[in-house]
Formats: sequence, structure tokens, C-alpha cells
Amino acid sequence: MADPTGFPLKDNATHDATHSATEHYERYSALMMAPFVTEVIEAADLFPGAQVLDLACGTGFVARAAAAQVGPTGHVAAADLLEGMLRIAARNAPRMYPDIEFTQAPADKLPYPDNSFDAVLCQQGIQFFPDLDAALTEAARITRPGGRFTATAWTPPADRSPYFAAQLKAVTEHGTPEEEARFAASLSYPADRLTAALTTAGFNDITTREVTFAIAFPDVAGFAAGYLAAVPWGQSIEEAGGPARFTEAAETIREALATHTSPDGSATLPFTSTVVTATR
Ligand SMILES: C[S@@+](CC[C@H](N)C(=O)[O-])C[C@H]1O[C@@H](n2cnc3c(N)ncnc32)[C@H](O)[C@@H]1O
Repeated sequence: MADPTGFPLKDNATHDATHSATEHYERYSALMMAPFVTEVIEAADLFPGAQVLDLACGTGFVARAAAAQVGPTGHVAAADLLEGMLRIAARNAPRMYPDIEFTQAPADKLPYPDNSFDAVLCQQGIQFFPDLDAALTEAARITRPGGRFTATAWTPPADRSPYFAAQLKAVTEHGTPEEEARFAASLSYPADRLTAALTTAGFNDITTREVTFAIAFPDVAGFAAGYLAAVPWGQSIEEAGGPARFTEAAETIREALATHTSPDGSATLPFTSTVVTATR
């Protein structure tokens, strides 16, 4: 069977007996995702009463922010392939808005009627879809005419996002060539490929731009280990080499970021993402 995702996070991490991999994802990704969530929400131009889908929602950062924007007369749906992500998303969903409707579904086969949404949002998900054209065609089908599609995808790391460059070094040195290739591919999604796929899918007025945020890590070494346990390439290092190799990989990240790190272990690092918008 074809691999249904480029982000095959298993929810049975051995790294930490008390927290699942998706709990790690929620805890550690939050820091780097936060400013990009705000960026996606602003770019999508949400309004009170809007019908919104968070596609590849993960643990629901964007869905939660969208719920606050659309208010009690709006509705937020959120879909992801991984049951483990949705379990954490449902646990963290706010109670002061109408319930976010979480659904387990692949991006290229979504269980929503045609023209269901005013906005489809996808933060750091498109680079993991095995068939981008099929997924965007599906996104176009469920977006009403005049509705918006907004997505983010990390730009290549070496010069733009030192954290990902360091993590890629760790995966290269301690992981398998397959995981290295999978992770590297997720960091190099070209904007023109996205533009072409959105055009083919039937979207118009396509814009792409790059945004950079500086993110402050109080304890960059602690973060490196926690976040590595929350991504498939980190899991595979531990599966293949055990806890010792996992610790070595986290140490590789720490060392690669040494020139960015203060004596107290903190670091402020830039992260750059492409933001794409389109109109149905
Ligand atoms: C890096 S995470 C991003 C999650 C979330 N959007 C966020 O902002 O944190 C990538 C997500 O894409 C989801 N995903 C990957 N392939 C998918 C597919 N084919 N259909 C639906 N979701 C998919 C994964 O399960 C994962 O939750």
C-alpha cells in the first residue's frame, strides 16, 4: 500500500514512558508554530460566522485560533490522518466556542459536501501529502466560490531556519537515508510547485511570500530532545539505535546550534516559512 503520509508519527513513542509522541508534538511544536498560526489566521481573513476547515490539523493549533475568530455563529472543522493527533486536539479544544468538529480523514478524500467552507487552512501539512494535486483538488471542491485557501510550508533550512538545519544534520548522522530524505523533502517545498498545483486545482489569485519569525527557546538542548521525540525522523532514530542514539542525535542538534546559544542555554532562532493564499 502506498505510504499515506510523509509524516508517519507513531503514537507509541518509547522516548518518554509518561507522554505519547502526540503529547510531545503539542507541547514542543507550540513554541515554533505560535507566530505562524497568527500569520495564517490573518492571511485567511476570517470573519464572525465563517465556516472553516483546518486541514492536517495535527493537535489543533490553527483550529483553536480559528474558533476564536469565527465566534459562536461560525463553525470550525478539523481533519487529520492520525488518530493520535486528533485525540490530543479533542482534549485541548476550547469549551467557550461551538465545538470544533474533529474528523480522521486523508487530505485527498475528505468527508465534506461541495462548497462547505469559506476558508480552508493548512499549516505545515501540504509538504506531507503523498498526492498534492489530489489534495488541492479536494480542497477546491469543498471551498465555496470566492472562499480562501491559506497554507504554510517551511522554506529550505540551511540559510533560513538554523534549527531545522541542525535537526537535519542529526537525522543525517544518526538516522536512516530514508528518514533523512523524507525530512529533507518536507523542508524544501518550492513555492512555484504550490502555485502550479493550486492553479490546476482551480484556485485563482494565488500569492506566495516568505515570513520569518525569531523564536526564543529558554532551553534549546531540552527543546531539541523533546521535539525530536515528536517527529517521525526522531522516532525512527530511537527505534533503530535505542535511547543512546536518540540522545546522541539530540546532542548533535545542541552542538550545531552552539554558536547561536547563550551561556544559560537559551537561544533565539529565526524560522522562515512560505505563506500561500488563493481564492476559489
Ligand atoms: C507537521 S504536522 C502539522 C500539524 C498542524 N497543522 C500544526 O500546525 O501543528 C503535519 C500534519 O499533517 C498530517 N498529515 C500528513 N499527511 C496527511 C494526509 N495525507 N492527510 C491528512 N493529514 C495528513 C499529519 O498527520 C500531521 O498531523
